[in-house]
Amino acid sequence: MVQNGARIIAVGNEKGGSGKSTTALHLAVYLLHQGHRVATIDVDSRQQTLTRYVRNRRTTVESTGRQVPMPKHVHLPTAWGDSIRENQKAEQDIFNRAIDGLRGEVDYIVIDTPGFDGNLARLAHGAADTLITPINDSMIDLDVLAKIDLASGEPIETSPYSRNVQKARTERMAATGRGIDWVLVRNRISNLGSRNASQVQDAVEKLAARLGCRVADGIAERVIFRSLFPIGMTVFDPLEADVLGGAPSMSHVNARQEYRSLVAALQLPRVTSTEPMRLSA
Ligand SMILES: Nc1ncnc2c1ncn2[C@@H]1O[C@H](COP(=O)(O)OP(=O)(O)O)[C@@H](O)[C@H]1O
Ligand SMILES: [Mg+2]
Repeated sequence: MVQNGARIIAVGNEKGGSGKSTTALHLAVYLLHQGHRVATIDVDSRQQTLTRYVRNRRTTVESTGRQVPMPKHVHLPTAWGDSIRENQKAEQDIFNRAIDGLRGEVDYIVIDTPGFDGNLARLAHGAADTLITPINDSMIDLDVLAKIDLASGEPIETSPYSRNVQKARTERMAATGRGIDWVLVRNRISNLGSRNASQVQDAVEKLAARLGCRVADGIAERVIFRSLFPIGMTVFDPLEADVLGGAPSMSHVNARQEYRSLVAALQLPRVTSTEPMRLSA
């Protein structure tokens, strides 16, 4: 399959702290290292984690001269006028302008969304060719997608978030003939391999069958992610000893492999870019 114009990948889950922003930057940087042109859009005005992540990355580049590729980053602010209708219109306009401007410039547009429902978040979901939903590895965190019967692991009732995604899928299909490829990924999986972990995996698979989405192999809980945010780096960047506290650990190498598997699971179509990758100054 070949994609015409940029492929839009949204990262969404109406729960904070599930790893959306971390996943968004890792995905964007991985695609950059693969030689693709990548834009990142932050529609989470409250946290602006991805915007801060990219800013930290720029600061590291400027202060250390480290050569790492940069995404073209855009932050879209929430409109705060008195009229809800005018705010929605203003947000729709800036969203469309950003997408239209970037579509011809890059191969992939990665959009990070907030951990709550809102107009910009809905626009991002509606525009997505691929939606990645990272979920923290616990039964409690599955309730953002559905109420689960704890005894059987079966979904009882889908959540408002899942219903919004299904609505966005139906509307997109009606408007463009294309749905949204929805991929769930367990995040922060405990390395201890507990009963909880297999219970969660089982419930996620049942949920995916119910929601018509796919499940990618998960990302383990790793302390390295804590040291990456302040310097705006990812596990795909060349990391100096000051960050790693020594040579790359197995944990670091495994984290790379897990993110690579996640990208493979996305089954992204081939893009026809021939432009060289953009390196920061
Ligand atoms: N696989 C992981 N292992 C350890 N910590 C992680 C992992 N993924 C994310 N985190 C941490 O979890 C916190 C929340 O992640 P973040 O990406 O900001 O979530 P969200 O955008 O969904 O609110 C951050 O401190 C981040 O460093
Ligand atoms: Mg976030």
